[in-house]
Amino acid sequence: MPVPVRKAIFPVGGLGTRFLPATKSMPKEMLTVVDKPLIQYAVEEARAAGIEEFIFVTGRGKTAIEDHFDHAVELQGMLTRRGKDDALELLNETIPEPGQFAYTRQLEPMGLGHAVWCARNFVGSEPVAVLLADDLILGEQGCLKQMIDAYNDVGGNMVAVMEVPNDQTSSYGIITPGEEDGRMIEVRGMVEKPDPEKAPSNYAVIGRYILQPKVFSDLARQEPGAGGEIQLTDALARQLGLQPFNGYLFEGRRFDCGNKVGFLEANIAFALDRPDMKDAVSKILNNYV
Ligand code: G1P
Repeated sequence: MPVPVRKAIFPVGGLGTRFLPATKSMPKEMLTVVDKPLIQYAVEEARAAGIEEFIFVTGRGKTAIEDHFDHAVELQGMLTRRGKDDALELLNETIPEPGQFAYTRQLEPMGLGHAVWCARNFVGSEPVAVLLADDLILGEQGCLKQMIDAYNDVGGNMVAVMEVPNDQTSSYGIITPGEEDGRMIEVRGMVEKPDPEKAPSNYAVIGRYILQPKVFSDLARQEPGAGGEIQLTDALARQLGLQPFNGYLFEGRRFDCGNKVGFLEANIAFALDRPDMKDAVSKILNNYV
């Protein structure tokens, strides 16, 4: 059996310029879908997949994330005095075990590969998951849990994949697919954001990865790729042939919360998925369509 995945990296250093002015003084990962910040969805997905250590790669102006996963002493005191147990329970869900969360800063935005590399000392020599909070997935079972279950059979590197329309390949890492076995697709190549005419397929990488520690030695080369940034895609592509590499066609609906329309759609879909809100939300939506 492959070495189990116990740690996860959350790259949260991005500037969030697509959501200005909302993200002027608030991290984009704190934007809420219904009533929960994007980063909390990602943390809960990781926890449900058995992750025990959570490593955040932050940047300037991101302290709200650390505060979110900490006690809010005054608020907790007030809620306790007023007997608001439900609200207290919601706060409790945000509190990690002592020492379970670690934070490090990416001093300059040099790309996803660089952000992941910044976490190397926390990862050491074991496999690690990476979750991009912008990619929010609604499904019966969390995407990372599905991947880890599959990984426990095959090991190696793994990326979440989904099919995208041909004209969208330039927004994603795209794989060259090999043999397919159920939801697993062998990865024979991988390229960052190719134009549609150059894309090897329409299987796009979505922000969930399982990386073997060797990927970090490659990232250490700090070789810039697409857009002049250090790309995780390139480091993974250079591992081809050295260890198993699979894409996992996850079950669930993915929302691109890195853009406004995708973010609004996520809010609608997650609200409609909530028994306490479903009817009221369907009713108001009828006024608009
Ligand atoms: C990143 C990755 C890309 C991947 C995407 C998934 O791009 O570089 O390979 O397909 O996440 O959301 P970004 O969206 O950060 O530009």
